Amino acid sequence: MRIVVAKDYDQMSRMAAIVVASRVILQPDCVLGLATGQTPLGLYRNLVEFYRHGDLDFSRVTTFNLDEYVGLAPDHPCSYHRYMEDNLFSHVNIPRENCHIPRGDAEDLEEECRRYEEAICAAGGVDLQILGLGVDGHIGFNEPDVKFEGSTHVVRLAQSTLEANSRFFPSPEQMPRFAISMGIKTIMRARRVLLLASGEEKARAVRGAVLGEVTPDLPASILQLHPNATIIVDEKAASLI
Ligand code: GLP
Repeated sequence: MRIVVAKDYDQMSRMAAIVVASRVILQPDCVLGLATGQTPLGLYRNLVEFYRHGDLDFSRVTTFNLDEYVGLAPDHPCSYHRYMEDNLFSHVNIPRENCHIPRGDAEDLEEECRRYEEAICAAGGVDLQILGLGVDGHIGFNEPDVKFEGSTHVVRLAQSTLEANSRFFPSPEQMPRFAISMGIKTIMRARRVLLLASGEEKARAVRGAVLGEVTPDLPASILQLHPNATIIVDEKAASLI
């Protein structure tokens, strides 16, 4: 696992954007795995900036998002569909049919998980997977557990995740308790992984991910076993390593 320490959030975001942009330039038909949350917002802003300058062409790129809340339709203001639309998709020339996000409002969630996993395989797998990090060490919505969950599945969100993410909802009660998430096996199959973390509140999870034992108690620790994983953290998130 390569560890890059950026001086602050802005530098972390620029570095991550350079990594993603390089992939898109070198492999115009690449498959990107995308993350949501506060952390990758700066990355997406930089990518939009590159695109506006004419440096990037997303017309042959395919994307798969990590996760979506159960029960939220794509047009729900707090859905990850909407987040991706607002922060990236509507600003670049990526064909919408190439953008994949699990449907949290699917009638049959198990079937939706199967369909999503098959779609990733059919696209040839993910070339570069972007990951954020939960305060409890989760990646995607793979919460600390007694075992690593394999493929795309339905998860019950941990209390710390409910507390951390409820700020994105009008009231904590409106936050869904479940989500669909790519599994650890799905993430580990990506050819390259780029994990981003910023801020003091992530320092403990970063330490566990990088220096701790590989355990489902801290899902990001599995990345120590990935052959091509890089983590870019800012100085605050790196304060315990
Ligand atoms: C959510 C997402 C994760 C993300 C994490 C960290 O739980 N499902 O993919 O990495 O939050 O979020 P933030 O970047 O807002 O700290």
